[in-house]
Amino acid sequence: MTPASLRARLVPSILSADLSRLGEQLAAVRDAGVDWVSVDVMDGHFVPNLSFGPDFVRLCKERGFFVDAHLMVSNPDEVCGAFAKAGADIVTAHLEACPDARATLERIRRAGAKPGLAIKPATPAEGLLPWLDGIELALVMTVEPGFGGQRFMPGMLPKIETLRRERDRRGLGFWIQADGGLNEETISLAARAGADSIVAGSAVFSAADPAAAARRLLARIS
Ligand code: DX5
Repeated sequence: MTPASLRARLVPSILSADLSRLGEQLAAVRDAGVDWVSVDVMDGHFVPNLSFGPDFVRLCKERGFFVDAHLMVSNPDEVCGAFAKAGADIVTAHLEACPDARATLERIRRAGAKPGLAIKPATPAEGLLPWLDGIELALVMTVEPGFGGQRFMPGMLPKIETLRRERDRRGLGFWIQADGGLNEETISLAARAGADSIVAGSAVFSAADPAAAARRLLARIS
């Protein structure tokens, strides 16, 4: 089993940040001990929202963060290269948008990033099992992808547990990321289930003091 003492990482999602003050808000969470941020990429087709291009990955990298680009897009094969080129450390595609997941993972690697696979709430964790030996990160959506500020779906916790058991059984080392509705009430549920990378958008950046909010969340998972 992964040692329970291993601290989960808090990964603020910039989707909820005040973009007019993004540099300042990134500096604030950095001071709170955050070193990994998530850039939610939305194409208005896979999800009914439009968001960031590769420049936002570059901006976060220039400020020294580890960055994952979460591609909520229908054509991950076409766009993954631009996000890898912008410096994304991990590029995560949705399994539901990958007709050939093995080829997509390989494409991300060839572009210079580590690959991740994400699943929407309706997709069972078992859908990821064939690919676990080829990914750096498995993302379990704990809300319907597309928007920040939604309510956490506790019914997703067994999927995190399934992936954790399978990772330990096979001796693999991928991150298990939970994303959506994580806040002071729900974050420890996800960590106890086995998530070791926890994305929080509105709980951090919609707070009056994002640094203090990040510290409170970190205190619940360390
Ligand atoms: C939703 C995004 C999430 C979202 C999280 O589609 O993938 O990363 O920004 O926002 P909160 O933490 O507010 O649910």
